[in-house]
Amino acid sequence: MCGIVGYVGNQECADLLVDGLRRLEYRGYDSAGLATLVRSDGEKRPIEVLRAVGKLGNLVAALRERPLKGTTGIGHTRWATHGRPTEVNAHPHVAGPIALVHNGIIENHLALKRELSAEGVKFSSDTDTEMVAHLIHREAKAGHELFVAVKRALAQVHGAYAVAVIDQRQPDRIVVAKNASPLVIGFGDGEMFAASDIPAVLPYTNRVLLLEDGEVGLLTADGIQVESLDGKKVEREPRTITWSAAQAEKGGFKHFMLKEIHEQPRAIEDTLRGRVDLANGDIIASEIGLDEATVAKVQRVYFIACGTSSHATLYGRQLVESLAGIPSQCELASEFVGRDPVIGPTDLVVAVSQSGETLDTLAALKVAKEKGAQLLAIANVIHSAIPRAAGAAFYTHAGPEIGVASTKCFTTQLAACLLLAVYLGRRNGKLSKEKAQELLQHTVELPHHMRATLALDDLVRDLARPLASSHSALFLGRGVSFPIAVEGALKLKEISYIHAEGYAAGEMKHGPIALIDANMPVIAVMPDDRSYEKIASNVQEARARDGVVIAIATRGNSEIGAIANKVIYVPKVDPLLSPFITSIPLQLLSYYVADFKGTDVDQPRNLAKTVTVE
Ligand code: AGP
Repeated sequence: MCGIVGYVGNQECADLLVDGLRRLEYRGYDSAGLATLVRSDGEKRPIEVLRAVGKLGNLVAALRERPLKGTTGIGHTRWATHGRPTEVNAHPHVAGPIALVHNGIIENHLALKRELSAEGVKFSSDTDTEMVAHLIHREAKAGHELFVAVKRALAQVHGAYAVAVIDQRQPDRIVVAKNASPLVIGFGDGEMFAASDIPAVLPYTNRVLLLEDGEVGLLTADGIQVESLDGKKVEREPRTITWSAAQAEKGGFKHFMLKEIHEQPRAIEDTLRGRVDLANGDIIASEIGLDEATVAKVQRVYFIACGTSSHATLYGRQLVESLAGIPSQCELASEFVGRDPVIGPTDLVVAVSQSGETLDTLAALKVAKEKGAQLLAIANVIHSAIPRAAGAAFYTHAGPEIGVASTKCFTTQLAACLLLAVYLGRRNGKLSKEKAQELLQHTVELPHHMRATLALDDLVRDLARPLASSHSALFLGRGVSFPIAVEGALKLKEISYIHAEGYAAGEMKHGPIALIDANMPVIAVMPDDRSYEKIASNVQEARARDGVVIAIATRGNSEIGAIANKVIYVPKVDPLLSPFITSIPLQLLSYYVADFKGTDVDQPRNLAKTVTVE
């Protein structure tokens, strides 16, 4: 996830672009850049480009040293997906007279790179984005003006993109295009704006047009002309935004956490993008971060992580065992370093961390490295300490998560664990092509079912209200729902400060059942799967002791309504994939309980987003 901006009008635009980027910095902050063009001072001038590594402040400092002139310009704040956060990898990327900023992932960038290399193109970055700049340049060299060149180039691209492109040959315009990544056009008076999100344009105009997938726009100071990629005219009126700038920064959501919960279908799409080979029922090997020789040695998979990430690994372990038939263990990183684990070269140690900087996980990884284990990191932040120490990385591509309580990073970790397990199962032959095809088909359909689950927002909100006065809550699950129950309890604790326990439902009778009375809400995660009958009995046991049960069950379940006090019915999916769905009502429940209590949802007390102490 990155932020892009564009301006064409009569004002000097460098500071204006920086102002837009500041409002988009939540989308990425590892490097930033600008490119500007002088529109009409009589002489033709080259595109001016300025890029800086690190937060936007570094670009502002560089701009003070070397101001950029021009009334047409584009800007970018980066959250790296391909290539380290360095100045050469920062956007804009330039090819001949073309400069381009991009948000998204180009799936066929390796094939495009091979094709362009064969034509003698030299690359100056490690990014997928640079291919698009060169494709447009190739079309420009063939004599096409910018609007046509961009349409022709994008027809060769697969993947997610929002792009803004300028061309030294036509300094009075910007061409923008969108597929899967967001792009907003702002209508000023004699000036036009483009941005990844509404807050970046809101100080200048509240008249906006949201570009749709497959649309390309030609922006000049006087307005916009929109077409589909294949050249059909699109007529749509701008709409007026009534939110305040502060509201808009969170996309209209009250908190970042709620926004991030709602971003999950998109985040999962980004985790899966370019990695699933449906035709062969496989995972694209170059995407997983492990070579075949390493995988052939693996006799056991050891997951290490902390907090929410450790809950994702509980799911990962089950998948590795059931899909790849490889023995698997999970361990809290802080405990792993505190003893003398028996591991060696036939173990694959997978460190899972959204931040990639958690010190406990890093320390555990170093122990595993010393013992000669094979290493892999599953991380969200590219080139962070844990992937660097592991030497092999699978990035979740969830985009920056601002809320301290992890939501979209968790579900994308589940997806990464799933792809890893399928990959291992296909390598060792435990998972047939047909079974993998079926599972992967269900996996790519998940974002659709997640969107349907998010539509339960209002219902969950109503159920949350009475919970806000509880002092404690018990979350139960079995099988793949056990990690979800534990994670549900952690979410409630973290942001509402209500004590909560996540328990394997079968363990309830071994102790926690003593806690159950009319004041103890019990949240049972019980989708239709092979554990359903057993957890239904556990729910009966809780009800017999006056426990107040909220069940998360599969739509179409006709008996649960008579057992539980309240039911949240969720869409039916492959039983192995239910965690992607059942996580959502639990996240919403915690969110609304906390919001009713009035706690600081995005920055709960005593917690930090990145924990760099042991
Ligand atoms: C999640 O809501 C928490 N903020 C916390 O448990 C977190 O998952 C843990 O600190 C591990 O962080 P990591 O994924 O960045 O390694």
